Formats: sequence, C-alpha cells, structure tokens
Amino acid sequence: MTSDLDKLAEEIEKEIWVDISETVIEHARNPRNLGNIKDADGYADLTGQCGDAMQIWIKVDDYKIKEITFWTDGCGTTLASGSMVTELAKGKAVNEALQITPLNVLDALGGLPEESVHCAFLAVNTLHEAIKDYRKRQSGTE
Ligand code: FES
Repeated sequence: MTSDLDKLAEEIEKEIWVDISETVIEHARNPRNLGNIKDADGYADLTGQCGDAMQIWIKVDDYKIKEITFWTDGCGTTLASGSMVTELAKGKAVNEALQITPLNVLDALGGLPEESVHCAFLAVNTLHEAIKDYRKRQSGTE
C-alpha cells in the first residue's frame, strides 16, 4: 500500500520532471554505459560551467569505438546526456564520433530545458576530449 508520503514524493517528482521528455527521464533513471574501463584507449575528465564533472572512457578497435563508458557527479539531465552521448558514439568510427554535436544529443533526448542545455555540451566536450586523448596516445605524443 502506498503511503501518503510516497504519494507526495511521486507528485513532487512529477512536478520536477515537468517539461522533461520521457527519453530524458528514462536515461536519467537507467543510464546506459555507466562505469569505467580499466585499460581504456582514451579518457577525459571535464568540469562544466556549473561545476559538475563528467568522465568518459573509450576502448577503440579497428578505429571504431567498441566500448564507451561514463561517470558524472551531476544531476539527472547530466546523467541522461552522458548516457545518450555514449549510446550515439558506441560502434562509430572515431572520426564519426568527433562529428557528434550537442544538438545531436539534444535531438536524441527530445530536448532539454534551457537551463540544462549545458549538460549536453559537457557530455559532447568530454567525448571529444576522450577521442583526442586516444589520438594523442596513438601518435605517441602523450
Ligand atoms: Fe551542470 Fe548538468 S547541471 S552539467
């Protein structure tokens, strides 16, 4: 049986998530590719303008992103952005993954409230930096 407190919590959660797409809610609740890769080929750790941090690890095989994981200490929309950017990049050639833009992430998420748009930028910037790190390691100029 649901208590009054549980009902109240549900109502509050609905209000908080108003204006947020189902896709964002789903990815925030069940983020894909969360975690790290111990022997990653590329890695980046960035902090956004709000102070939230994101880390991305990539494993590359035959110039394709075979594995990609992320971690963040940010809020739900940051989690959803990290989840979506890793889904978009997985399986792509590194060059293709570098073409992913914040707009691609926003489109795939069904949009984000204006105050959360920077979460998509943080996710994409972290992805790009992880790919650059991979390239640096490849060229031996680490
Ligand atoms: Fe700052 Fe999402 S709230 S990255």
